[in-house]
Amino acid sequence: MARKFPQAVLPVSGGPRPLEGQVALITGGARRIGRAIALDLAAAGARIALTYRSSRADAEHTAELVAGAGGEVWLRRLDVTREAAIAATLRQLEKKWGRLDLLVNNAGLYEAGDLATLPRARWDRMLAANLTGPFLVSQAALPLLRHARPGRIIHLASLGGVHAFSQHPHYSVSKAGLIHLTKVMARALAPAIQVNAVAPGLISTVSAPRGWEARLVARTPARRAGAPGDVAEAVRFFATCSAFITGQVLLVDGGLSLV
Ligand SMILES: NC(=O)c1ccc[n+]([C@@H]2O[C@H](COP(=O)([O-])OP(=O)(O)OC[C@H]3O[C@@H](n4cnc5c(N)ncnc54)[C@H](OP(=O)(O)O)[C@@H]3O)[C@@H](O)[C@H]2O)c1
Repeated sequence: MARKFPQAVLPVSGGPRPLEGQVALITGGARRIGRAIALDLAAAGARIALTYRSSRADAEHTAELVAGAGGEVWLRRLDVTREAAIAATLRQLEKKWGRLDLLVNNAGLYEAGDLATLPRARWDRMLAANLTGPFLVSQAALPLLRHARPGRIIHLASLGGVHAFSQHPHYSVSKAGLIHLTKVMARALAPAIQVNAVAPGLISTVSAPRGWEARLVARTPARRAGAPGDVAEAVRFFATCSAFITGQVLLVDGGLSLV
């Protein structure tokens, strides 16, 4: 069944291919922002290893889109909180393509919660997916990334990691931790591996946001929600920029962090 796909995330064919011959691993890339990143990096020439957790049909559709645009793609199910599965994924990736140049830690959870009553299980689940997961996948990818020149890691953080989102306490703290992990990793892994983070503000896949999204748009200087393609552009920047740029956080928020 043909699905509607936002124009903003479709890659431009025939453009420059700075990632030709490289391999990019994108976690949680079945849909939304991860899908846009996969299409964008494939258009820049990268072979795409894409993982999904439960959204198999969406992941297969993303793979079809990448392949349909002339890209190479490999799909695998992965829960980023499971070390054995992570190790197996990296082993299989090495067997398939023999290299890894870029890891995009995109998989993540998002939910609201009341600080006073938030159950520990939800706190733990959030930290496991958004902070421990990127740490574990990065750690497992290091041996392959060290052979790239340079190896690159890009974390998907959030405006909530910079500003205190009081109605999303566990989410906000997990992304703040991820931003600090970006800086610690950048320092610990230089010069072999460059580590940066993209921190989106409100990103929407609908053309006319309503409710709380509409209220946030009204406060955003850019007067619109971001599209997945806006985030993918920032990821592509870190995927192709000078290796001298490391430990940085690029907000993609239409200026919302300024108000
Ligand atoms: N959308 C926004 O406005 C926004 C704003 C700020 C930051 N971000 C960040 O940008 C990234 C992508 O955002 P999005 O809105 O596209 O995300 P999303 O659709 O909510 O989540 C991306 C994927 O993460 C996967 N995932 C969750 N827990 C996982 C786990 N334990 N192991 C493996 N995969 C797991 C899910 O995979 P399955 O569906 O396959 O289960 C999901 O499809 C996330 O890190 C998010 O926090 C997004």
